[in-house]
Amino acid sequence: MLLPQMPKPEVPHEQYEQTYYEGFTQTIYTIDEEKQFPDGRLIVSTTDTKGVITHANDAFVIMSGWSREELMGSLHSILRHPDMPRAAFKDLWDTISTGTKWHGYVKNLRKNGGFYWVYATVVPNVRNGEIKSYTSVRRKPSRTKINELSAVYKDMLAAERAGS
Ligand SMILES: Cc1cc2nc3c(=O)[nH]c(=O)nc-3n(C[C@H](O)[C@H](O)[C@H](O)COP(=O)(O)O)c2cc1C
Repeated sequence: MLLPQMPKPEVPHEQYEQTYYEGFTQTIYTIDEEKQFPDGRLIVSTTDTKGVITHANDAFVIMSGWSREELMGSLHSILRHPDMPRAAFKDLWDTISTGTKWHGYVKNLRKNGGFYWVYATVVPNVRNGEIKSYTSVRRKPSRTKINELSAVYKDMLAAERAGS
């Protein structure tokens, strides 16, 4: 199992069939509930070269809503929110797979269908000239940037839907 199935929320929600880069489709749910990024904390995770989670700090576990056991061995796509355009993740992977750092604003999906915004820096961990893993460190984004990026991603998503 690459991604654990989200439980269906007992409150009003939207339902999506989301198709992932690896080719499989999963039913996900969203609710209109934002969890604020905790002040003075960093949310950290590490993946292998395929994006499978190998480490998550406590803030990551709490913000995602999944247990550590559920997160370990799952694809990082477990956080993919349907409001995020594919192009953002293509840019991320195109950048980090060539050994370069990536920065960006990401709207993440929680286990209960809610969301949280982060400003992420994803760094390739290189040893002997080879990428061994990736680490993402997330900071609290400003409300101004969240508003700005919400609008940008909405337009990008609309363009992707029109083109597919
Ligand atoms: C270290 C690392 C951290 C990532 N963090 C996130 C994240 O916080 N939220 C997210 O949706 N995708 C994140 N991704 C990208 C996912 O791996 C994935 O590409 C994205 O969720 C889109 O899903 P898909 O590629 O399976 O279609 C991260 C990738 C890496 C390597």
